[in-house]
Amino acid sequence: MIELVDVTKVYPNDVVALKNVNLKIDRGEFVFVVGPSGAGKSTLVRLLYREEVATRGQVIVHGKNVARLRRSSIPLLRRTIGVIFQDFKLLPDRNALDNVAFALEVTEASRREIRRRVPAVLDLVGLKDRARAFPHELSGGEQQRLAIARAIINGPSILVADEPTGNLDPDTSWGIMNLLQTLNRNGATVIMATHAKAIVNAMKKRVVAMDHGRIIRDQVQGVYAHEVN
Ligand SMILES: Nc1ncnc2c1ncn2[C@@H]1O[C@H](COP(=O)(O)OP(=O)(O)OP(=O)(O)O)[C@@H](O)[C@H]1O
Ligand SMILES: [Mg+2]
Repeated sequence: MIELVDVTKVYPNDVVALKNVNLKIDRGEFVFVVGPSGAGKSTLVRLLYREEVATRGQVIVHGKNVARLRRSSIPLLRRTIGVIFQDFKLLPDRNALDNVAFALEVTEASRREIRRRVPAVLDLVGLKDRARAFPHELSGGEQQRLAIARAIINGPSILVADEPTGNLDPDTSWGIMNLLQTLNRNGATVIMATHAKAIVNAMKKRVVAMDHGRIIRDQVQGVYAHEVN
């Protein structure tokens, strides 16, 4: 469902963020992308929803080379990929309900559909009682759950999370991980870039480790890092 073939990404400032990366992710997988700061994790995930375009090589999502998509097809691609960020990126002047509804409105869903689907998704992430709250009235964990509700409202088959627990305390982080795990069990393919060593080691999922723009390890039921002897 996702394939990177010999992907190199050079930013305009000549920084080589990815070097000949090859990676295949099947439908329904849960993959952690780990590695030191600057390794290329965010660059890798941004290529998937065409926030960035590869300099060389192919990024294939749902069987299509995303670099070749027509401009008009990019919104359709993005509807199939829910994105979750470290800093939530919520709209500060809209309440929880409207933050999620906004993601549906841009798809021209009917008002009836919005009224039906938004509360259901808020319920799923445990925010049913906070529907009228504004982002600044929510805790960090609640804000991230709201961001997840927004990410899943269009029923994406892929969830991309870039350090989703980076601003959260350990207990709250586990709540978010449980939610991602549930969404994965319900069929979503999850790709999560993270520095959260304890989470990666406990969850025993596939681990893709990067360093200096290359994949240096790819393990089923992996760990955050190998002990250096
Ligand atoms: N928009 C950009 N323009 C120029 N260089 C960039 C850009 N984004 C990232 N880089 C550079 O590309 C390299 C990889 O960055 P990237 O953000 O992918 O790393 P990362 O693994 O996500 O790091 P972190 O763990 O700190 O988030 C770094 O050297 C970074 O400075
Ligand atoms: Mg990053």
